[in-house]
Amino acid sequence: MSVPALIPPHGGELVELLVSDARRRELLAEIPRMPRVKLPEREQCDLELMACGALSPLHGFMTETDFTSVCEDMRLGNGLPWTVPITCSVDTATAAKIDLGSLVALTDDNDNVLGVLTVIEKYRHDKKLEAEKVYRTTDEKHPGVAVVNAQGDVCLGGPVEVITPRVDPPFMLYRLTPAQTRAAFAERGWKTVVAFQTRNPIHRAHEHVTKTALEICDGLMVHPLVGQTKGDDIPADVRMRCYEALLNNYYNPKNVMLAVWPAAMRYAGPREAIFHALVRKNYGVTHFIVGRDHAGVGNYYGTYDAQMLFDEFEPSSLGIMPLKFENTFWCKKSGAMASDKTTNSKPEERVSLSGTAVREMLARGERPPVEFTRPEVADILISSMKK
Ligand code: ADX
Repeated sequence: MSVPALIPPHGGELVELLVSDARRRELLAEIPRMPRVKLPEREQCDLELMACGALSPLHGFMTETDFTSVCEDMRLGNGLPWTVPITCSVDTATAAKIDLGSLVALTDDNDNVLGVLTVIEKYRHDKKLEAEKVYRTTDEKHPGVAVVNAQGDVCLGGPVEVITPRVDPPFMLYRLTPAQTRAAFAERGWKTVVAFQTRNPIHRAHEHVTKTALEICDGLMVHPLVGQTKGDDIPADVRMRCYEALLNNYYNPKNVMLAVWPAAMRYAGPREAIFHALVRKNYGVTHFIVGRDHAGVGNYYGTYDAQMLFDEFEPSSLGIMPLKFENTFWCKKSGAMASDKTTNSKPEERVSLSGTAVREMLARGERPPVEFTRPEVADILISSMKK
């Protein structure tokens, strides 16, 4: 598919790994003779992203050079910025049965074949290196580190050909590929587009940062992550209803687009913030919102660590503009959303609620204050908790 001339994809061209019909038929004929590897959820998400070009310029699961370079230097082996490993790993016994150069069928939990990997390398999965460098912790309690530790001890590196990105995925209306979002932006005449990554319902702080960003861009793409998240995050279907309610009631639909991002959440804070921004470039986005503790979890990262990591890169090497926002809250004194940058109010003059406090209110069937969450969003969350 031809790609409208907006911002170039990361590395210069969209690399879509979904095979042609002819190649699909060829591969399907061979699959019964191939060894099978069941992909864990994170790798399934990565495969779907590779299918549609969201992980351009990757052509498959990383080889050792890329893995080590990404962990150590935040770059692919060819020097292009990239901050999280994209790997396919298996246990040692399975790896021993797979010959170099062979084709492996990659399946989902129900044994549906999603794609084929040509194994050009097998290498030890250095989980400690990945945890220390990418997650900045080896603590098992970190949900991203726990996923890494549960992965196999041997990585299989090589090019991937995708046959079926995912079987019966939800949110089809919103599951737009980079080529489709690029076409949509071009059709709307948007030259600058800001993307908003989120894994939460949109509260007033999120609304404030997205609308402020929209003031300086032609369009806003709300791009919630709907792949693997940790158990206590709000499920994607509930969040989607919140986004729809909010966008329909409080935004100008002419200037906003909602599309889902079928990625797995890594909770890698700063490293993941750079990754989130780079891959949004593939969707044709020029600006990216980075607020407080982006992609963080617990107390593993400082409030503005993610923003600071952007400063370690030459802006032109990232090619997408981060829009950095301070922690935002409702300021009673100013009667508006504000941050430390814009108000000198005292703590008691601010509406700030912890995530736990909000969850407890919702579970009791109570709407949080309107200065924190819009009532339409609160009602959806309350009714989802009653089930
Ligand atoms: S994240 O894991 O996707 O980063 P979340 O959905 O909570 O989590 O945040 C989405 C984006 O909004 C991130 O860029 C985050 O930094 C930003 N953000 C969340 N809450 C606030 C806030 N109160 N003030 C400023 N930015 C915020």
